[in-house]
Amino acid sequence: MYFNAKSVSLLLALCVGGITAAFLSIIPDVSIMGVVVGLIISFSSSFLLTYFVLEFIFFKEISNIHRQIHELRQKQSNGFSPELGQKQKNPIVDIKSQINHYAKMKEDEIAQLKQMEQYRKEFLANISHELKTPIFATQGFILTLLDGAVNDKNVRDRFLKKAAKSLNALNILVEDLLTVSKIEAGEINMEFEEFDVQVMLVDVLEQVEQKAEKKNITVTLEAPSDDPIYINADYNRLKQVVLNLVVNGIKYNNKNGWVKVILEVKEDTVTINVKDNGFGIPEEDQNRIFERFYRVEKSRTKKQGGSGLGLAICKHILERHDTGISVTSTPEEGSNFSFDLKLVNDTENEDTEL
Ligand SMILES: Nc1ncnc2c1ncn2[C@@H]1O[C@H](COP(=O)(O)OP(=O)(O)OP(=O)(O)O)[C@@H](O)[C@H]1O
Ligand SMILES: [Mg+2]
Repeated sequence: MYFNAKSVSLLLALCVGGITAAFLSIIPDVSIMGVVVGLIISFSSSFLLTYFVLEFIFFKEISNIHRQIHELRQKQSNGFSPELGQKQKNPIVDIKSQINHYAKMKEDEIAQLKQMEQYRKEFLANISHELKTPIFATQGFILTLLDGAVNDKNVRDRFLKKAAKSLNALNILVEDLLTVSKIEAGEINMEFEEFDVQVMLVDVLEQVEQKAEKKNITVTLEAPSDDPIYINADYNRLKQVVLNLVVNGIKYNNKNGWVKVILEVKEDTVTINVKDNGFGIPEEDQNRIFERFYRVEKSRTKKQGGSGLGLAICKHILERHDTGISVTSTPEEGSNFSFDLKLVNDTENEDTEL
């Protein structure tokens, strides 16, 4: 029903007029003319009075509130929200729906802020923990040396080596953290260039050879042919991505396992799969491993010495290459990490080679 000052006043005036006329008509001395005059006077005076009160006090104020809420919502949604254009005829109903909508928006905002606060707390806790570990270890070795171990040549060398190893881990952690924060702040520019992806993969495989040999893990590259596969990417950053994936395949694997880098060439993309037959990742952790510091089963992976930043960095680097990374994994069977990259048009390459 459409409520405004006029309709409400009319309704009230009709009631008052009707009641007055009914009263007058039961008084014997009042003529019909008197009843009609009474009806007209009571109807018009109550109509004018109610209309004035409603229009200038009640509805005017409501319209003001209505307009202000409307403007506020328009500001909040950057001036664009399709349903904002359709104002309801009844301002009271409209105000109710706008207040509900506004409350919902604020609720979502508060939930988002709370989640960010939670992330911030977790991040601080994680980072302090990660920093504490190598610092405490180094401190322990140095204090033991100071307590007299320095006089024993064998112990001294062993402890100094251990302290150096811990400091090295600290250095890697700080470097990784700087990389994550710089990529997130958009401070790292990708240096795109055209290259054969197979050259980069061979480079990665050579780099992990020793690590793989220690666990007797075979790392192989499977490509559809020896023909070059040209992509346009940041060579070093992309190498960092594949390196982390291959190293993960080795670290989270049993002795005598395998890691395969498999290339699949499609019409205009190449898919890079890094597959292993290692520990695998439980389903509930698969979405979270790309978060900073997240590790599956912390005690076990702790032994592997990673900081849990590798995949977060991979995700950011691939985002800057307009692509995303996905994982499929079965615990105790293995994992497959894969991402797509756009191929450089063959004809473009032929042109540049000429
Ligand atoms: N191939 C894999 N198989 C099983 N678990 C994996 C594999 N890759 C990653 N994970 C799990 O995901 C976690 C996050 O991996 P990520 O590469 O981000 O960190 P990390 O290897 O622990 O440390 P970093 O890479 O910084 O040295 C790992 O700690 C591990 O629990
Ligand atoms: Mg890693």
